[in-house]
Amino acid sequence: MGQVCPSVVFRACDSYQNPLGKKVTAFMTRQTVSALLSVWIAMILFVGASCSPQPEPPVQTVDTGVDPADLAEVTDDVEVPEEPALDPTEELMPLDEPSEDPVLDPDEMLADPATDDLPSIDLDSMDDLFFGLDEESELEAARRPDVIFVPTPQEVVDRMLELAEVTKDDLVYDLGCGDGRIVATAAKRYGARAIGFDIDPERVKDSKATVAEMGVEDLVEIREADIFTLDLSDATVITLYLLPDLNVRLIPQLEKLKPGSRIVSHAFDMRGVKPDLVETVEGELGSQHTVYLWTTPLQKEEVDDSWEDDY
Ligand SMILES: C[S@@+](CC[C@H](N)C(=O)[O-])C[C@H]1O[C@@H](n2cnc3c(N)ncnc32)[C@H](O)[C@@H]1O
Repeated sequence: MGQVCPSVVFRACDSYQNPLGKKVTAFMTRQTVSALLSVWIAMILFVGASCSPQPEPPVQTVDTGVDPADLAEVTDDVEVPEEPALDPTEELMPLDEPSEDPVLDPDEMLADPATDDLPSIDLDSMDDLFFGLDEESELEAARRPDVIFVPTPQEVVDRMLELAEVTKDDLVYDLGCGDGRIVATAAKRYGARAIGFDIDPERVKDSKATVAEMGVEDLVEIREADIFTLDLSDATVITLYLLPDLNVRLIPQLEKLKPGSRIVSHAFDMRGVKPDLVETVEGELGSQHTVYLWTTPLQKEEVDDSWEDDY
């Protein structure tokens, strides 16, 4: 069959025979073929690109010393604590409102180094800090023993009273009386009147128990008091087992004793006051105890402080 094919037709209107001998006519234009080829090439490129393997990022391994198998076991057991649920009814403190708690500014508590001015303190507002305690109990609460309780061995007590030559006419004060053994012994052995003073209420209780046990309540009194506030002028014998500095602090009070009064101290001297006698007494278990005796009026002595200047 004769055909007229436009020039634009590729192998225009070529007729050829297929393997079955039938004539086939191709009707593809050049543009159609080239467009199909372009699409086909583009698809090959796209599929090739998306299928090619991507390089894996390098993996850094750190040896934690933990077997991951173990870790898995552990993490299986771990319980994740639940977040505490917020109670929407609870009132939250607004952030922009100041708290009612007073805040002390440390800078205000310091003296200004430039002017050396002391910070001014509002005494009225300070009262609130004492939680309404009255003046007397505030002072009581502030007082603590200046030295802990350690009892004087009974052999040393006996020797102290002997050295002081206690008689029934004496009034013996034990300053910091502990368990009351010195005043109770003075009453029991010599028939002397005695008063024991202690700042610690527990020691006051102990002392009263000792006095009751030894049956000398009629001669002995126990008072809760700070020894540094006492008027000692009625006493004729004073017994001490305190500390060297505390003995020295007592000097102004001891100077008010009547002449001929005796002061005996277990273990510690009184710097600046010359003792009449210093003796070593042996305790029951072989311990050595120094005992000092003074008689009023006190004999002051020069104190050599020069070695202190070296430090
Ligand atoms: C080392 S003990 C001596 C006890 C007793 N005089 C004796 O020799 O067995 C000292 C005692 O002094 C008391 N004390 C400490 N400071 C005191 C003070 N400022 N006023 C009264 N007693 C005080 C303590 O509570 C303690 O009982």
